[in-house]
Amino acid sequence: MSRHSLETKIGAVTLRNPVLLASGPAGYGLEYEGLLDLERIGGVVTKTISFEPREGNPGTRLHETGGGLLNSIGLENVGAEVFFSEKMPALVDAGIKPVVSLAAEDWEDYRMLLDATAGTVGVDIIELNLSCPNVERGGMAVGTNPELLAKYVRHAKDTLPGMTVLAKLTPNVGDIAALALAAEEAGADGITAINTVVGMDIDLAARRPVFKRIRAGLSGPAVMPIALDAVWRISRTVDIPVVGVGGITSIADAMKFFMAGAAAIQVGTAVFYDPALPERIVETLEETGIPGPLGDCSRMKGAG
Ligand SMILES: Cc1cc2nc3c(=O)[nH]c(=O)nc-3n(C[C@H](O)[C@H](O)[C@H](O)COP(=O)(O)O)c2cc1C
Repeated sequence: MSRHSLETKIGAVTLRNPVLLASGPAGYGLEYEGLLDLERIGGVVTKTISFEPREGNPGTRLHETGGGLLNSIGLENVGAEVFFSEKMPALVDAGIKPVVSLAAEDWEDYRMLLDATAGTVGVDIIELNLSCPNVERGGMAVGTNPELLAKYVRHAKDTLPGMTVLAKLTPNVGDIAALALAAEEAGADGITAINTVVGMDIDLAARRPVFKRIRAGLSGPAVMPIALDAVWRISRTVDIPVVGVGGITSIADAMKFFMAGAAAIQVGTAVFYDPALPERIVETLEETGIPGPLGDCSRMKGAG
């Protein structure tokens, strides 16, 4: 039986297939070498970097909940200099496609980060993490405000000519599709949806919140219906590709994202306990082809 070609175009970049590792759980990518064949998947969205290195949040950082995982990492990362001189070249040398994830604490930080990116050979696709709920300054405000979001996207497009820019959105807003539209109008080449959903938990015995910062980001199966709905609505609002992420733990889940309108998908939390899942999704898609999106389903609107 012939294998289906899975090449996927996003902006100016052609990925070998539409299955990526989501930013965060897999670190800078090579931490997962040996656990799955990283050359088989479409690429690795690297852990978000800021211009300066960050130590991240104190206290508990990961906490399991019913059907999900809460995290409060606080964007611990090695910073732009180490990332671009060590982490990224190592990925490229290993034949792995990096999608470079960037976040900024403020405008000045963002400008410096983009300038550092501009001077780096081998980066042709970035994902702007405009949605991290753990950093008190910058990220959250950018991702929830359409004007600010557009300003950040436009600056990336102006500073990095020819760069494919994905805008990663937070679900912690009233209308995620409106933010996707703002990103598209500002020149984004694609939308990644979703980042984690804000949540909290309480340590009963200690009578205090589990996390020092109280609120954390929920991921894993619990958020999948939220992510699927976001992809569904965004893909009906914008004309640029949508990259679906949130709660994918099986091949069937991945198929649903394509049917909802995703052009590509990312696997995050699931790689903590099932690192080979992305590779199995690729194998299945090679056998079956990528499922087409559903029709408009307008007659089902009244359901529920
Ligand atoms: C431990 C952990 C760290 C994460 N770090 C980042 C990050 O640095 N940048 C980012 O854009 N998203 C980060 N995320 C969010 C994921 O990329 C993804 O959007 C979210 O977890 C939903 O997908 P999932 O349910 O498959 O994990 C992180 C998620 C987890 C669980």
